Amino acid sequence: MKIFLDTANIDQIRKAARLGIVSGITTNPTLVSQERTAGLADYQKIVQEICSIIPGPVSVEVLTGGVQAMIEQAKLISKWAPNVVIKIPATSEGLEVTSALSKQKIKVNFTLCFSLNQALLGALAGAAYVSPFVGRLDDAGHNGMELVKDIVSVFAHYKFPTEVIAASIRHPEHCVAAAKAGAHIATVPYSVLMQMIQHPLTDVGVARFLSDWQAVSKREK
Ligand code: E4P
Repeated sequence: MKIFLDTANIDQIRKAARLGIVSGITTNPTLVSQERTAGLADYQKIVQEICSIIPGPVSVEVLTGGVQAMIEQAKLISKWAPNVVIKIPATSEGLEVTSALSKQKIKVNFTLCFSLNQALLGALAGAAYVSPFVGRLDDAGHNGMELVKDIVSVFAHYKFPTEVIAASIRHPEHCVAAAKAGAHIATVPYSVLMQMIQHPLTDVGVARFLSDWQAVSKREK
């Protein structure tokens, strides 16, 4: 399973990039708005900076509705950097937009997926990625990870090339479950990424190894 970072924060992206395990980025209008963006020009600047740090796919959401408006904006955004992927919502308009963009070889992340049917239609429309929102489904009293499992198994059954991004990840256990479910990608907030590497027994082990070694060094002096 690949790890994407779910953020538009440049500091977090730079720090995570240094770990060498981040294959891509997902952003959304809420995440970008948290970075003090005032318009499309700022949006472009942030996206281009992210794309220059991470060479893998960077998902950028359209900021408009309506089929024609979304297509036009998607075309514009796709020119910002070669690794931009356009996030299109899983609506009937979004489906039409996804089909049109895919035919023009513009990669789409079919986002805000909350059902197997939405994911299936997104894949049939040619989306490169579908993003089931696990945490938001859990919040609504459903089992988000069951949806990830179902999408993965149906896509594998039909040999669809569309990759499944487990999104709206809230805690490290979601990553464990996404990996077990066979998700191609989990997109995680920076805080969750940091939690993934932590284990109290590792900290205790490191401290003990160091103190044992220091004790030997002192004896030898
Ligand atoms: C993914 O592409 C989305 O940006 C993200 O995972 C949404 O997560 P949230 O439900 O925590 O806002």
